[in-house]
Amino acid sequence: MTDLGRVLILAGGLSPEREVSLHSGGRLRDALTRIGIEADLADVDAATLPALAADPPDVVFPVLHGTSGEDGTIREVLDLYDLPYVGALPPACRMAFDKATAKAAIRAAGVATPAAVTLPREAFHDLGAAPLIERIVARLGLPVVVKPRAGGSAFGVTRVEEAGGLAEALMSCFGYHDSALIEQAIAGVEIAVGVLDTGEGPVALPAVEIEPTAGAYDYAARYTAGATSFFTPARLHNDVLRAAAQTALTAHRVLGLRDLSRTDMIVDEDGVAQFLEVNVAPGMTDTSTWPMGLRAAGLDFAVVCRDLAAYASDRPAPRG
Ligand SMILES: Nc1ncnc2c1ncn2[C@@H]1O[C@H](COP(=O)(O)OP(=O)(O)O)[C@@H](O)[C@H]1O
Ligand SMILES: [Mg+2]
Repeated sequence: MTDLGRVLILAGGLSPEREVSLHSGGRLRDALTRIGIEADLADVDAATLPALAADPPDVVFPVLHGTSGEDGTIREVLDLYDLPYVGALPPACRMAFDKATAKAAIRAAGVATPAAVTLPREAFHDLGAAPLIERIVARLGLPVVVKPRAGGSAFGVTRVEEAGGLAEALMSCFGYHDSALIEQAIAGVEIAVGVLDTGEGPVALPAVEIEPTAGAYDYAARYTAGATSFFTPARLHNDVLRAAAQTALTAHRVLGLRDLSRTDMIVDEDGVAQFLEVNVAPGMTDTSTWPMGLRAAGLDFAVVCRDLAAYASDRPAPRG
């Protein structure tokens, strides 16, 4: 491993998850600085490209959440600048960020994921919402969870108990994305399983169990201290934990991810870990589950992030 030079953390951006990303980025910068690594934090705006060209860092650590952060855009740009970075390549990000595509790939690999219908706004507009909603309810039953086909931090996500609530849930979803994923709601225990690869192959971190005080793991439950109880390792049978770890590793492998990821799942009443989604730039705030998984594994956040950056900086940037 070469000596690690300057790490540039990219955070912020224009997604609804801007604040979360700035929090993640600030925490990462402080951690790296504390162990003697030169780390700068840059918000992504019109000044970003001139700065990258004028003073290229040795490696970039993107902690941008949401669209353009997780859909491959920022990494495609970093590739254009021949800059090495931590995390998955653009094609893998595109697959992972699109929940419908990720679910299809994961299901083809034999992993359980809730039954779902994916439809764009135009379908409801052009064909009429009422007959479609009736069919969706007949197909999936109730309750369902309506969510943007791509997004994060539970923005635009609504749990719908009665058919009458679907139209409004779709409206709120379409405020965040042009396409909706309407998914069978799974009752059970929500867990998040991080994956880490600092060069020796991907390993799954201990599962973090998520128990929001008010019921839903929404934005407030995620980022308000004390609004959610977390249990690491999750209070589940060892066989279930092993299967959930396998699901996270399968998602990482099938989607061609690199370095780090976090898979969100619900363990249903039969003990089956149902895949919800995988994140290529997991949150790194004080209440984020990826760093909690590290801690539960006895790993130091700063040291792991330094190793990820060093591993990435030794890797030649792809061209074309
Ligand atoms: N099929 C489902 N059944 C039950 N709860 C769900 C389902 N899908 C999502 N949720 C809940 O909504 C939250 C957000 O959904 P998720 O797909 O992980 O999107 P995000 O990218 O916003 O985190 C989850 O953390 C979970 O609490
Ligand atoms: Mg999630």
